[in-house]
Amino acid sequence: DWHQWRAPRATDVRSPCPALNTLANHGYLPRNGKHITVPMILKAATDGFNFKADALMVTISKFGLLASSDPTTLNLDDLKLHNLIEHDASLSRQDFALGDNLHFNETIFTTLANSNPGVNYYNTTSAGQVMHARLADSLANTPNVTNSPKSLGIRGTESAFYLSAMGDPVTGVAPKKFVNIFFREERLPFAEGWKRSKTQTTIETVGRLSGILLQESNDVPTQPCEPHVLGP
Ligand code: HEM
Ligand code: MG
Repeated sequence: DWHQWRAPRATDVRSPCPALNTLANHGYLPRNGKHITVPMILKAATDGFNFKADALMVTISKFGLLASSDPTTLNLDDLKLHNLIEHDASLSRQDFALGDNLHFNETIFTTLANSNPGVNYYNTTSAGQVMHARLADSLANTPNVTNSPKSLGIRGTESAFYLSAMGDPVTGVAPKKFVNIFFREERLPFAEGWKRSKTQTTIETVGRLSGILLQESNDVPTQPCEPHVLGP
């Protein structure tokens, strides 16, 4: 079938975003991860995750284009450009100053993987706690760490994104099994029983969940802004 999961080949490129990588691994985006346009991302996000092509997805996708040296397309690895979208205190990647801000890192992911003990799902409370723990680690250990209103806003959006994509965009509840496969294998967990949510994820659902997540995290910016990154 056209949208089977296949591991990337040696010449394929991937991003610091588990979702874009998953979409490429299933052929919703080009499997080589290259020459990707905004309309391609919008269609893939809808087909793969039922994310609406509204102002939120359009803005993030256009923002991502700034990471590319081509005016109209991006390669997934372009997105590692630090402080454009990529930020410190990620859920599954190392901070930029510590080395590899692109590839999945199981040690970093341990905080999320061990969260919400005793039950088989993650929710906004656990996800907020994970955000807080990841930021505390970065603030304590990363030289030249960034923690601004912008990075905080992106982090809240991303935690809302994984709860919505792997679970319920309204309740923010997502089975651990699905979320863990999404991060670790960059695969849609169809075989394990995951289905694309019937409820669409929109700027409104994400805004609501990310607001809750930021509250639950108790995270606050420790600097007004980072240097503006507008391109490579
Ligand atoms: C990171 C989900 C779309 C660019 C992330 C993370 C999640 C996520 C959960 C956090 C990873 C981590 O903290 O380790 C999603 C979902 C999307 C989506 C469900 C829906 C299709 C996009 C789009 C772009 C993008 C359209 C830009 C073209 C990024 C980048 C990061 C990221 C650059 C790295 C941020 C960082 O952790 O430093 N995404 N994303 N994502 N995403 Fe996406
Ligand atoms: Mg990062």
